[in-house]
Amino acid sequence: SSMDTELEKLVDTVSGTDRDVCKKDFKGFKNLFHRFLQVKGPSVEWIKIKRPPEDSIQPYDKIAARGLPDSVADSLNKLVVVKLNGGLGTSMGCKGPKSLISVRNENTFLDLTVQQIEHLNKTYNTDVPLVLMNSFNTDEDTTKILQKYTHHRVKIHTFNQSRYPRMHKESLLPVAANLSMTGQNADGWYPPGHGDIYASFYNSGLLDQLIAQGKEYIFVSNIDNLGATVDLHILHHLVSQPNGKGCEFVMEVTDKTRADVKGGTLIQYEGKLRLLEIAQVPKAHVDEFKSVSKFKIFNTNNLWISLPAIKRLQEQNAMDMEIIVNPKTLDGGLNVIQLETAVGAAIKCFDNALGINVPRSRFLPVKTTSDLLLVMSNLYSLEAGCLTMSPKREFPTTPHVKLGSSFTKVQEYLTRFESIPDMLELDHLTVSGDVTFGKNVSLKGTVIIIANHGDRIDIPAGSMLENKIVSGNLRI
Ligand code: UTP
Repeated sequence: SSMDTELEKLVDTVSGTDRDVCKKDFKGFKNLFHRFLQVKGPSVEWIKIKRPPEDSIQPYDKIAARGLPDSVADSLNKLVVVKLNGGLGTSMGCKGPKSLISVRNENTFLDLTVQQIEHLNKTYNTDVPLVLMNSFNTDEDTTKILQKYTHHRVKIHTFNQSRYPRMHKESLLPVAANLSMTGQNADGWYPPGHGDIYASFYNSGLLDQLIAQGKEYIFVSNIDNLGATVDLHILHHLVSQPNGKGCEFVMEVTDKTRADVKGGTLIQYEGKLRLLEIAQVPKAHVDEFKSVSKFKIFNTNNLWISLPAIKRLQEQNAMDMEIIVNPKTLDGGLNVIQLETAVGAAIKCFDNALGINVPRSRFLPVKTTSDLLLVMSNLYSLEAGCLTMSPKREFPTTPHVKLGSSFTKVQEYLTRFESIPDMLELDHLTVSGDVTFGKNVSLKGTVIIIANHGDRIDIPAGSMLENKIVSGNLRI
């Protein structure tokens, strides 16, 4: 086919050892592409969707109530922590890996992750390793930084996910060859989503290596989710399953609020638990999907997966994930598509899969600088790499924070705060326009600060704003 010819041409542009990697990647890509061409219509029939059976999504409290045995260390030694580290911090205006953004007292996402696992290993005298799934976008910067952890008590492994060619939206042919002539070569490629973990982990040889060391489960999560710590109760639940009835896959879900309308949800479909993402929902049912009453929970992307099961499914060619078609417009205006998959979509392939409804605190993603402001503030305290809500906050919920476009980029955001305001009693904060905060500002209740175009508002050091609207060029 013309795709095959184009791919061969592309391989020819790559030299050295990269060439073998490229060939391997293209094998996976061709597979995905052919599946994409075969797909006709939506991947679910709406009328076949059923509510998951009662016992297939268990409340976390029920699992934690069983308590922990003395052999926690034995369970921990069967565990590997995997962080998804293929993504860039582009939505916060960063060029490098998102995991290298400082989130708390100069500590990056990666620092906090290492501290968490090191603390576990020291406390229980165990050897839980950390595995990072990098992409061609993040590998170089990440590997450089890893040297700083050589003397920490945690073994760190990395493997790279695949690099696939972006395609013209119309012709469905790779754009890379044309772009390399204009010097925008990097735009021709993409990491194909975190569903790539199964094939890349397996192909890297690391999966076999870890199985040979006696590891049985991986705990996978987004590196930007600061709530995704190793939970001993969930781990114990997994390793204590009776033989032959082993649960091969746990998806941590949490109660949906009106702000979480986009997250994937668990459904029962053809007798199995399945992840339903908004992209799979027919237009006529989108409102129903978003409603909090029918689909009550969503996927946190904290997943516990059996290593031998991954190996088996890979070898049987049975790992089956719906294809997500992601349309993009490149800098030069070129419209492309990229085919992706999501790690949670494989849940339907595993035996005895289970949802566990965890507290919201296990879902603390940092997607925007508004999220970043919350985790940097005194709403949280940091202990051994873990963030917990300060006991000084009287309500269990976090404030709603909406920072305007002058705060989007981390660099600029940082220059606008001389210190992070006290937010213990804050409910709602909206900031828009050219606004800066002096040292030791305190925000309480609902605070709205709007600098109109051309104006600038500097909140003076030491101010206390309680239920206040500040606008125009008004000074307080
Ligand atoms: P995503 O970008 O897929 O999800 O990254 P998100 O950020 O939760 O979704 P939106 O964009 O806000 O809706 C989730 C995690 O998966 C990693 C990222 O690094 C991040 O930790 N990831 C994503 C990969 O490792 N590889 C990929 O190809 C995509």
